[in-house]
Amino acid sequence: MGCIVAIGAQWGDEGKAKMIDFFSKDTDIIVRYQGGANAGHTVVVDGVKHVFHLIPSGILHEGKVCVIGNGVVIDPEVLLEEMELLESKGINLKGRLYISDAAHIILPLHKAFDEAMEEFRSNKIGTTRRGIGPAYSDKCLRIGLRMGDMFDKDILHERLTFDITLKNLYLEKVFSRNPFPPEKIFAIVEHFRGKVKDMVINTPHYLHTALDAGKKVLLEGAQGFALDIDHGTYPFVTSSNPTIGGALLGSGLNAFDIEKIYGITKAYITRVGEGPFPTEEKGEIGEMLRTRGGEFGATTGRPRRCGWFDLPLIRQARRINGITDMALTKLDVLSGLQTIKIAAAYRLDGKQIDYFPSAQLHRVEPVYTEMPGWQEDISACTSFASLPKQAQNYVRYIEKESGIKLSIISNGADRKSTFSVP
Ligand code: IMP
Repeated sequence: MGCIVAIGAQWGDEGKAKMIDFFSKDTDIIVRYQGGANAGHTVVVDGVKHVFHLIPSGILHEGKVCVIGNGVVIDPEVLLEEMELLESKGINLKGRLYISDAAHIILPLHKAFDEAMEEFRSNKIGTTRRGIGPAYSDKCLRIGLRMGDMFDKDILHERLTFDITLKNLYLEKVFSRNPFPPEKIFAIVEHFRGKVKDMVINTPHYLHTALDAGKKVLLEGAQGFALDIDHGTYPFVTSSNPTIGGALLGSGLNAFDIEKIYGITKAYITRVGEGPFPTEEKGEIGEMLRTRGGEFGATTGRPRRCGWFDLPLIRQARRINGITDMALTKLDVLSGLQTIKIAAAYRLDGKQIDYFPSAQLHRVEPVYTEMPGWQEDISACTSFASLPKQAQNYVRYIEKESGIKLSIISNGADRKSTFSVP
């Protein structure tokens, strides 16, 4: 024990970075366990906005060690950019950032393939075009290049030559696109290897040794439960497991190391990209949530689709992940509504159900409960007691119906507006 996990409990963009920043204070090591530069984690410190795609946002806390786990797919261009940015702000990464030798590398080939596939397919997913799917496919096909492979000249040469040949064939013959000159790809890898050579380690060994020595570890997920490749709304999902299984696999820790699992949950819900979304509000309400909540993708800038809180989805997230505690974010965005709706159940084929049927989600109708809203601006509230009665009732209803203990409320963008719930 000694490890807590922060998992997105919806379709991503739940405000994980801000909560991870909050938990980081009481943690020694922060580990990112899956996804890649498709994620964009935004933290605001003293009014200054920081967006991270790969390096755990905990790096902003002095003295904390950050780890990029084996479950992550790493784009060298993005990682080097983040490293340079942090170093330019006076943050020294020596001894503070480690990268798993088993994490896979995303090359321009993967990004070109992602883009070409997205244009080619009739049923678009709306991927971030960051090469995520193709990199995880290569991992499963056992042709991917891992961080550690860069340091073995023979493996590097054999693996990269094969992948470049294969991807170029696809790009040219299937998608009618320009191939990549092999020397360009080799040069990217060689440059990257030189920059990260002191950071690449066996991270499971490092983490288990740290836990044995009494250190506290935080596992940080990207995306969210309903984008999980196994439990989400396939094929409109990402190519990894943001859920608890992915947290263990992508870090090398085991179930007995886990003390608490936080489900990070927005007080309403959003989704980016295509796919079913039962509680989506396409009119005025959706527009109001988008504008007030700043619901535009941190990675792609795309407008997020917005809708009402979905209880069947959260219940499923609790069961799949074993969520012990909920951190509810962006409650302030709901201020000013006369009535707030919550999907208490779904109707599927004429029957009412209370779970999340991921494969039939496109056929469900939400069954709503309505609650009175509050008019006050609550962004300055820093305790549960100071919230208007209607806001208290709203969050207590979610707590009761989801079956998850509400532990934390976050009420605005800044670090200061996060408080524990008694
Ligand atoms: P991919 O992960 O780029 O392959 O995209 C697959 C789906 O996941 C698309 O619908 C994306 O919009 C969505 N997605 C990927 N990363 C995030 C994220 O960090 N937040 C929200 N949605 C995401």
